[in-house]
Amino acid sequence: MPGFELIGEEEFLEVKSVFDDSGILFRHSFDNLRNGVFKVKDFESAFAKRMNVPYALAVTSGSAALRVALAALNIGRGDEVITQSFTFVATAEAIIESGAKPIISDIDDTLNMDPNDLEDKITKNTKAIIVVHMLGTPARLAQIKSICDKYGIPMIEDTAWGCGGFYDNIPLGTYGSIGTFSFDFAKTITTGEGGMLVFKDEKLFKKAAAWHDHGHENNPSLPRWEDSRSGSGFNYRMMELQGAIGLAQLEKLDFVVEKQRSNMNLIKSEISNLDIQFREVPTGSFETADALVFFTKNNKMAIACRESLLANGVGTKILPEAISWHFAGLWEHMPSLNKDKQYEKSLSYLNRAVSIPITVNMDEKLPSKIKKALLSVLNS
Ligand SMILES: Cc1ncc(COP(=O)(O)O)c(C=O)c1O
Repeated sequence: MPGFELIGEEEFLEVKSVFDDSGILFRHSFDNLRNGVFKVKDFESAFAKRMNVPYALAVTSGSAALRVALAALNIGRGDEVITQSFTFVATAEAIIESGAKPIISDIDDTLNMDPNDLEDKITKNTKAIIVVHMLGTPARLAQIKSICDKYGIPMIEDTAWGCGGFYDNIPLGTYGSIGTFSFDFAKTITTGEGGMLVFKDEKLFKKAAAWHDHGHENNPSLPRWEDSRSGSGFNYRMMELQGAIGLAQLEKLDFVVEKQRSNMNLIKSEISNLDIQFREVPTGSFETADALVFFTKNNKMAIACRESLLANGVGTKILPEAISWHFAGLWEHMPSLNKDKQYEKSLSYLNRAVSIPITVNMDEKLPSKIKKALLSVLNS
């Protein structure tokens, strides 16, 4: 969960330096007033370096990052984009906003995209795939990428929950064509609201950078008001205060992920003898441990676990209580989703799943509290 747990002096000093040293809150221009202070640009450079890619583009949210990624790939009317049934509504909304049709694939025991179902859903109209690393556990990237390559379809990684994770030692978000990140207040690192895209391909980066800024090409030989453009776009620019906070938060990313992983392992070892099954983590992948997800026997048992956890002062996260925002089978308000089948396979996992949020500053009594709460239900 938790960049927000660690917001403190470092973030304050970065923000203060915007006011003390520059006073310019816009990411571009005002060069004679800003004393060389470019927080968003610095955040992008630092993020690209951390993710081991040449290009990063900061935007206003993780939702915006998805929308910009689709624009960079020229996705529009008549196109289909496949994503998974278990994700936040934003993933499907971005596809709808682009004019394309969202096609939903089932998930498997990783609670991420099922590669077999993905392949079944590909048609001649499929123009992109958005795979999601839900709650910090990597999807089966190697299999999914090889299917994308087989059909020549670009893969976008929605890394909203996966910032700081790896697959085959490759940072999540950089395995496919474009990676998108969210820095909203519930994410591994946060700028309050904010997002990022990462790219290996310069052309995609340039298209995205122009599109997120009304088409501005930021031609270095022209003042901004005379700037060149070759297409229109929109405004999803990040502002300097967010960039400043991002710089401080990025420094904490590895600590957050390490701490979440060790706290999750403490809980896991406490409850591993109970009659539950942990969510599958693909071999060779490194999860961010945003949440610990396990399966019970059935939906009734999952709900009973949540009630008992709540009664013992422990919350759950998304599963089972917030499933209606995170499962495409329940998005009746989105008529363009494929409703040809009801995602039975996805439901067979989601219906009996319980997700426990992992924090950085964990109370040391939490693992035993969780065990006590679960024992009273699972033993009855
Ligand atoms: C999987 C996923 N994608 C995208 C988003 C959107 O991010 P934001 O809240 O920054 O718009 C979220 C937000 O929770 C998410 O969970």
